[in-house]
Amino acid sequence: MNAHVSPMTATPPPLAEVARRMVPRYTSYPTAPHFSPAVTPSIHAGWLEQVAKRGEAVSLYLHIPFCRSICAYCGCTTKASLRDAPIRAYAAALHREIALVAAHVGRVRVSHLHWGGGTPNILPPDCMAALVDDLASRFSFQLDMEHAVELDPRHVTPDGARQLAALGVNRASLGIQTLDPVVQEAIGRIQPFDVVAASFLALREAGINAVNADLMYGLPHQTLPMIKDTAERMLTLRPDRIAIFGYAHVPWMKPNQKLIDDAALPSSEARLEQASEARAVFEAAGYIEIGIDHFAAPDDPLALARQAGQLRRNFQGYTNDAATTLIGIGASSISRTPQGFAQNAPDTLGWQRAIEAGMLPIVRGKAFEGEDLMRADIIESLLCDFAVDLAAVASRHDTTPEALADAVERLQPLIAAGFVAADGDRIAILRHRHEIARVVASEFDTYLGRGGRHSVAV
Ligand SMILES: C[S@@+](CC[C@H](N)C(=O)[O-])C[C@H]1O[C@@H](n2cnc3c(N)ncnc32)[C@H](O)[C@@H]1O
Ligand code: SF4
Repeated sequence: MNAHVSPMTATPPPLAEVARRMVPRYTSYPTAPHFSPAVTPSIHAGWLEQVAKRGEAVSLYLHIPFCRSICAYCGCTTKASLRDAPIRAYAAALHREIALVAAHVGRVRVSHLHWGGGTPNILPPDCMAALVDDLASRFSFQLDMEHAVELDPRHVTPDGARQLAALGVNRASLGIQTLDPVVQEAIGRIQPFDVVAASFLALREAGINAVNADLMYGLPHQTLPMIKDTAERMLTLRPDRIAIFGYAHVPWMKPNQKLIDDAALPSSEARLEQASEARAVFEAAGYIEIGIDHFAAPDDPLALARQAGQLRRNFQGYTNDAATTLIGIGASSISRTPQGFAQNAPDTLGWQRAIEAGMLPIVRGKAFEGEDLMRADIIESLLCDFAVDLAAVASRHDTTPEALADAVERLQPLIAAGFVAADGDRIAILRHRHEIARVVASEFDTYLGRGGRHSVAV
């Protein structure tokens, strides 16, 4: 098949219209709205037992769905708790889930351990230490294991940083979002530069040298000069990785976002400009572009993986982790095995109840079928490498690129607009249009339009 079909007859869409399209973030394919109760605890147990037989290393993800207060923009699965009691009860249930998982998967090697949230540094230090001990006693941590944790800089202290380092944490991601006081006020998150700088210093002094920063564009009242100023001030702290996420405004799913004034949100055109301004600042400083929303220092493992064509995408965004199995632990966590996805009960009570009954707390998921894995490969390549060789991927999945003819036809307007190039069976997103990778990927998504409402592409 030649992907270069008939761009001359297709109508090229304006860039802002493409950027406004509501498409998934593709941290998985098929995406979460297509999960169903057909994946049961016993099906997932069988998948975990297969992992044990293959003897490969796995990644572990632990979800901590608590914060001291909820930020107006937050799209994460979390809730506010001022007291430690519910957090301790949650940690106790995590121990029981770890035991249940270990009973099926055995003493597997672990290449990556990631704590996400919510705010993992809300865990009382003794709770986190006990959880790490438990994991280390049941699984086999690789000597070079990446041990990463998402942190709220407002709760990072020198003591806390030393405790994390003592537990083997070797990478931290700090939620910064913006350094602008007007925007901070509008998003309900007051966090002066000094607080951010002190948290970087505390982590590095404790020996946690890999420190990432999460920023956002498209926030209420945010302007281009504010993006430039935040980006430049962040560079003075020399983060190893910088993520700059487009604010996903989904108040129909996240009621806390109703506090954000729709009228104060930047337009699609402004969001595109903000994303490219941030990219210009980071690239001028020598950072390497990683996928749609990440940048990494040239010697960071993510930049090396990108250069070697080994970049991967998973629920945490971009990773150099080659493990084919990711086991999610904690309420709402999603596991991926070579057979499919399985998601834990999203509400902490339902999750806890299942665990107390001695069951894996799986409520839904998706077994891979038909062309799922081939399309997942294509979508991952487009989001990681901005290019894909359809013939090569099709052949890896024992088929021919003709199976993808519909998607190639749908791409013609983007080719006619000059956003995408097609050369034989190779599709590439042009360098100055990487922002629209989610839209290009969505043309290969056969589930799109069958349920689920998404955020704008850029
Ligand atoms: C779990 S939080 C980070 C850790 C910690 N809770 C904090 O806020 O500092 C993960 C990141 O997701 C991003 N994020 C949260 N809500 C978002 C939204 N609605 N749209 C895009 N990114 C969002 C933010 O950059 C945030 O730092
Ligand atoms: S952004 Fe972080 S601190 Fe704020 S509510 Fe979300 S998870 Fe919690």
